[in-house]
Amino acid sequence: MNSALPATAAPHSMALHMKGISKRFGPVQALSDVTLCARTGTVHALVGENGAGKSTLMKILAGVYQPDTGSIEIQGQSQTLETPGQAIEAGVSMIYQELDLAEHLTVAENIFLGAEPKGALPFTVSHHQMVAQTRELIQRYDFDLDPATRVETLPTGDCQIVEILKALRRNASIIVMDEPTSSLSERETARLFDVVRQLREQGLCIIYISHRLEEIVELADEVSVLRDGQLVHSESITELDIPKIVHHMVGRELDDFFPERSLEIGRPLIQVSNLSSPAGVQDVTFDVRRSEIVGMAGLVGAGRTEVARAIFGVDKKTAGQIVLDGHELNIDSPRDAIASGIALLTEDRKRTGLCLQLPCSWNITLPNLAEIGMGSLIKPAQETRIAAETGDRIAVKWASPRASTESLSGGNQQKLLIARWLLANSDFMIFDEPTRGIDVGAKAEVYGLLNTLAEQGKAILFISSELPELFGIADRILVMRRGKLVGNLVTKETTPEEVMHLAAVEEG
Ligand SMILES: Nc1ncnc2c1ncn2[C@@H]1O[C@H](COP(=O)(O)OP(=O)(O)OP(=O)(O)O)[C@@H](O)[C@H]1O
Ligand SMILES: [Mg+2]
Repeated sequence: MNSALPATAAPHSMALHMKGISKRFGPVQALSDVTLCARTGTVHALVGENGAGKSTLMKILAGVYQPDTGSIEIQGQSQTLETPGQAIEAGVSMIYQELDLAEHLTVAENIFLGAEPKGALPFTVSHHQMVAQTRELIQRYDFDLDPATRVETLPTGDCQIVEILKALRRNASIIVMDEPTSSLSERETARLFDVVRQLREQGLCIIYISHRLEEIVELADEVSVLRDGQLVHSESITELDIPKIVHHMVGRELDDFFPERSLEIGRPLIQVSNLSSPAGVQDVTFDVRRSEIVGMAGLVGAGRTEVARAIFGVDKKTAGQIVLDGHELNIDSPRDAIASGIALLTEDRKRTGLCLQLPCSWNITLPNLAEIGMGSLIKPAQETRIAAETGDRIAVKWASPRASTESLSGGNQQKLLIARWLLANSDFMIFDEPTRGIDVGAKAEVYGLLNTLAEQGKAILFISSELPELFGIADRILVMRRGKLVGNLVTKETTPEEVMHLAAVEEG
């Protein structure tokens, strides 16, 4: 018998039953009549394209949003979840992608935040008990964490473990994870999977949202698919595979996932020689030709983003030369880089990319006013039209270009960033993990877009942690390891194994 199971719950009894849930945001019907059942002791994957309604459904479960219609049962008990506090009380813990920890507090303080054990004197907290109980929790799950460590010093993977411990301390019976692996390294991901399996063993119900369908196949017991706010399919993983899941998600086959590439590769457009930067880039040399897509592989922390930052003038290079179209560039800032015809699409849309409070259209056009011929005079109608056309080219799903950027689903925010650079007329474009957090359909659109840009004679550097997409679209693959370039391979003449080996193995 499993002691963590609630006394009344048989294994695989219904942990969660959301019935007939609908939710509208202004003109957007985010959810219509969704019924979702998830059982105890299972990992239940929730998948769907960007904007399908996954996060909205889970925010309703977490008491963040109120549904317009519908009801929720947890462990067979009907529940009203009007605040996040009520949801926690009912046994639901949500782990958001942007983790919700108090950075300056310790692991133990975070786990007990708001529920600190009382000390001997009134109005005091027993630190001793807090640390002891945290240690016990950590040991029970065999984690490697010190209760006294401040959270700000922990890597992302450990912060997630702290969130999970916080949920366990509150006796959660349902834990929701919304894209938990998108900023984890491969090692951290493997550990998270172990933890999730352990929680399942203990009889918890894990609702797992991810765009990485390989993960779903590896981890989930059951899969529910949302499309345009409706639950279109729910089935055991044993009956499903990736193509079937994709079919349910997009409602059609995606056979031309990667575009056909048969371009005449031109002369070198950009030559980077002996580039070094204070962020750890060491002596990196490569070129990218016109109409060429060069992929850049490497493990998290290998220095790929740092190469992009050094080229783009975010980090000052300490050595090296950048020649674009035969001219040596002197780049001191991103502004210089843009003026020289270099674009950088960054991976972190929240921190380095978008102003969430502004309308979507502004996020597309503002950095490009000069290019679209609006120096100091902005004509709103024209501005909206240009943004609408550009957004439509990559199928941004929005109520209108004037909608606030905040109201867009995560993946659609990523598309806004891409739209922005479509307007800028740059010859050399660096894409840093452009498909992170976007759905399969949108991924195919991004690949098509990279191909179109290459066809226009642009040179493209495509940084990605996903080897299949590098192999699907890149003409050459550069491999980074610890700030150094350790491989420069023609895609057709190499294998994923060779790339992984170069990325991971230290020479003796
Ligand atoms: N606070 C809000 N205000 C207005 N519209 C919203 C709000 N939150 C979500 N929406 C809209 O509801 C729809 C569903 O969004 P949701 O975030 O649930 O999608 P998702 O499936 O989580 O997508 P992603 O995979 O991109 O994270 C989208 O069209 C989104 O723009
Ligand atoms: Mg979401």
